[in-house]
Amino acid sequence: MEQILRNFFLFLSKNRFFTKLAKKYGLRFGAGRFVAGETIPNAVDTIQKLNDKGMSVTIDHLGEFIDSKKEAREAADGCIEAIKAIGEHHLDSQLSLKLTSMGLDISEELVMENMRRILDVAEKEDVFVTIDMEDHDRCDKTLEIFKKLRADYDHIGTVLQAYLYRVAEDVQDLNQYDPNLRLVKGAYKESPKVAFPEKKDVDENYKKIIKMHLLNGNYTAVATHDDAIIEYTKRLVEENNISNDQFEFQMLYGIRVERQEELVKEGYKMRVYVPYGNDWYGYFMRRLAERPANVAFVLKGVLGK
Ligand code: FDA
Repeated sequence: MEQILRNFFLFLSKNRFFTKLAKKYGLRFGAGRFVAGETIPNAVDTIQKLNDKGMSVTIDHLGEFIDSKKEAREAADGCIEAIKAIGEHHLDSQLSLKLTSMGLDISEELVMENMRRILDVAEKEDVFVTIDMEDHDRCDKTLEIFKKLRADYDHIGTVLQAYLYRVAEDVQDLNQYDPNLRLVKGAYKESPKVAFPEKKDVDENYKKIIKMHLLNGNYTAVATHDDAIIEYTKRLVEENNISNDQFEFQMLYGIRVERQEELVKEGYKMRVYVPYGNDWYGYFMRRLAERPANVAFVLKGVLGK
């Protein structure tokens, strides 16, 4: 049953019609539990509160599946506005974005133009930018663009997904760029031709790439809510005398909040991924797919409770 629900929400997450409808009608169905709000002031307020609790943030100006150059440029403007707000309010926050929102499905030229505009402002404001990883069909293009931008900018990183069979090769291939990478299990519906279908295999592969990337001497963001992976990372860094400055834990806004606070108390760097904006639909559906128990929130939202 859980697998059916998971597939159902992942299927819904790709629906362009609902994506557009959701933009029009605003945050609904309990999505506010996972999304900080629709505006920059909402996001600034949330970041400030998390910073006050000793947590760093990466802010995500939500956006995916855009159809025109105009929408892609507007999405880039939104990111620039967010970076300027981070600078203006002296917040401890990075920025995350998706290349599809920058026009990946339209042209590479458009993506590069938008990314360079964002990265130039981010450099001035000293804000690090992470390119989220989307579905497998876009993985090669995303990594190519990351490599090109990394040649010109220091304050850029990307994400690798442990569920992909290819991921260990990507960790090795990217090593020459001294990359700051966020490592995750992976959130999209992928074919067993490209990704491990079984959770236990994903978890083993995840541990393998965390170890590889850390022992390569690179900065590693371990982005998970899974206690077994968190404990594994703690043991690994201790056994290998890796300093707390070489890694951080990351979790999503609204998920396992107490665990986030515990990790801060234990002295680890904890970064919370805070999404905001009106394009909340796809993000929200993927969070429901990860944990169908969250559907209870949707039902409460629908019933207005
Ligand atoms: P797992 O799914 O095994 O969950 C472990 C435990 O965490 C669960 O038992 C539950 O207790 C809790 N949990 C997990 N998800 C939950 C939820 N939605 N609601 C409530 N509890 C939940 N993916 C991707 O493909 N590209 C990307 O760029 C990113 N970026 C990213 C950034 C950050 C900061 C995080 C934390 C995650 C991502 N992801 C991502 C998502 C990632 O790939 C993965 O889908 C989720 O993190 C869930 O996997 P876990 O590692 O948490 O483990």
